[in-house]
Amino acid sequence: MPFDRHSIDDLRSQADIVRVIGNYVALRKRGASYVACCPFHHEKTPSFNVHPGKQVFKCFGCGVGGNVFTFVMRMEGVAFGEAVRIVAETCGLPLPETRPVTAEAERETEERERLLRLQVLAMRFFQEQLTRPEHYAAREYLAARDVSEDTVAALGLGYAPDQRSSLTNFLRDHGVGTAELERSGLVSVTDGGSHADRFRGRVMFPIADSQGRIIAFGGRTLGHGEPKYLNSPETPIYVKGRHLFGLHLTKESIRRAGFAILVEGYMDFVRLYQAGIRNVVATLGTALTEAQVRQLRRYLETPKVVLNFDNDRAGQAAVRRSFALLLEHGFRVNVLHLPEGKDPDDFVRARGVGDYREQLKQSQPLIEYLVDVARFEYDITRPAGRAQAVNAVLPYIAKIADAIERDLAAERLADRLQLDAAPIRSELQRAARERRAELAAETVEVTTKLTLAEHSVLQVLLAHPPLCATAFEALDDELIDRLPGRVFFRAVREVYLSGRAFDYPALAQAVARWQRAETRSDATGQSDFFAADDAPTPLDLEMENYVAELLLRAEPPEDDAQVERYRAILEDGLLVLQQRRIEQQSTALHHLVRKAVEANDEALALHHANERLRLKRARLMALSKRYQR
Ligand code: GTP
Ligand code: MN
Repeated sequence: MPFDRHSIDDLRSQADIVRVIGNYVALRKRGASYVACCPFHHEKTPSFNVHPGKQVFKCFGCGVGGNVFTFVMRMEGVAFGEAVRIVAETCGLPLPETRPVTAEAERETEERERLLRLQVLAMRFFQEQLTRPEHYAAREYLAARDVSEDTVAALGLGYAPDQRSSLTNFLRDHGVGTAELERSGLVSVTDGGSHADRFRGRVMFPIADSQGRIIAFGGRTLGHGEPKYLNSPETPIYVKGRHLFGLHLTKESIRRAGFAILVEGYMDFVRLYQAGIRNVVATLGTALTEAQVRQLRRYLETPKVVLNFDNDRAGQAAVRRSFALLLEHGFRVNVLHLPEGKDPDDFVRARGVGDYREQLKQSQPLIEYLVDVARFEYDITRPAGRAQAVNAVLPYIAKIADAIERDLAAERLADRLQLDAAPIRSELQRAARERRAELAAETVEVTTKLTLAEHSVLQVLLAHPPLCATAFEALDDELIDRLPGRVFFRAVREVYLSGRAFDYPALAQAVARWQRAETRSDATGQSDFFAADDAPTPLDLEMENYVAELLLRAEPPEDDAQVERYRAILEDGLLVLQQRRIEQQSTALHHLVRKAVEANDEALALHHANERLRLKRARLMALSKRYQR
């Protein structure tokens, strides 16, 4: 129903734009304006301005601007008329006068309003049924699931009797006509053309829009009937995937907490809500939709969610899509998996809300979580497995909206896959920056093999074999085992000790042998048993190429000065490799210290701390020697 122009102008001039917009974003006063981080694009420094004098808003970051109505339209994703209604309501002003144009538009609006009223009528009916003596089973069911009376009241829970047409009759008695009954989503039409209740013998959960208007219902069987949950079908007022269950009750808490907890089930919502965790909404077991993500984003200045879904669903395509969607919309996403595969309802009932809050703190950033899943799925002790793991996570990193966040995520990925080599790190960073979803497997395989330090050490050893004596004195087995290029170091050492020349056949053979030894030791017996021993894998070829390249580049020194230069390169490289070992040991000791402190074992903590100090001193000594050169 279109509004009268003049009364719209009246409303616009009387409405307080700061108050309306302040309902959605945290505004701070700056001079004559108010500023905030823009709710329409992702940003870290506020460029969104509201000017109370002119009654306009403008974002200098993304260019969006307008008046109080256009703001609400964008924010709520509603049409103009609805925005007018929201503004009038928020400011406690009368709704502008309306002037109907087309009869059809008017009929539609009226039908929607009738359907909305009808849902309220049904909710009252279900609520009343729940209190009836004969429906004690429903009350007992709720009590057994530890749903308090306060919660029943707050959520408007009710009961649909297990009768053919109790609601239908009730609605008819209240003057609801057949056409409306059929469009309400509450009544089904039988083959014979008669009408019957859609929901029977179920606990009823009203589903509301973010404004709190009841638009549909979900009903749960009391026992083990199928389906466990039944929802209203789509109606003129209920489009599936548009709404988040409970948002009308929790949007303020979400705004205050600065993040939302996303759960799957009605009962998960009920449990957390009742336990006083109010920044929660439920997706009702389906994949998140764009509309839902946008809706949630409205209430968060820097959008953040914790996904607390069932463990067994994490790998499913629907959940994966939800991850991607949230990242695309600039959300920071954490994943919470409760122990023993419990859902939030089970967990809070078993362990209490205190433990749940603890778990919440330990929720994992999405990228870390995905890497851990990939580590579990692929054998990351092998280069091909590392490539698979990288490519399992990279598509999500590519979706992260913020460039800095994306960079950090790439770092995290490299760290957690122990991709230490500089080339792979920089390649990953580049991929993240360019939002590429994939790295060529060869890139990962080859570049994971060696760090730059390893490469330069190998290079000078092949160029001037006498340096091997110094090198392998410093590189003990334990150190070599930690190196990504350990196969090459072992091969070079073997050829050197055998007294043979560093030529291609000798080196390639040694590399192949050590590589086979390596893959055998961490292969799962079976597949290896059947593997043809002499069929070269792509990896074998890569490694042979690398050996050839090292040899091609190995230039014997021409004079003593060059020998000295090579020696300096070697010592630098060895130092880096040793430093890395010291760092790893130091980190390990740091963990031990913390553990001992947590266990109140002072003596042990002191012991580890001293050990760490000793390491640090050794490291400094080595470094200072380097600079004295
Ligand atoms: P409770 O057994 O009541 O604790 O349910 P739950 O929430 O633990 O169930 P589950 O994890 O199986 O499902 C999560 C959510 O998916 C539910 O809350 C429902 O919204 C939805 N759901 C589950 N089963 C059905 C079903 O059979 N039909 C429909 N439409 N939705 C379902
Ligand atoms: Mn459950």
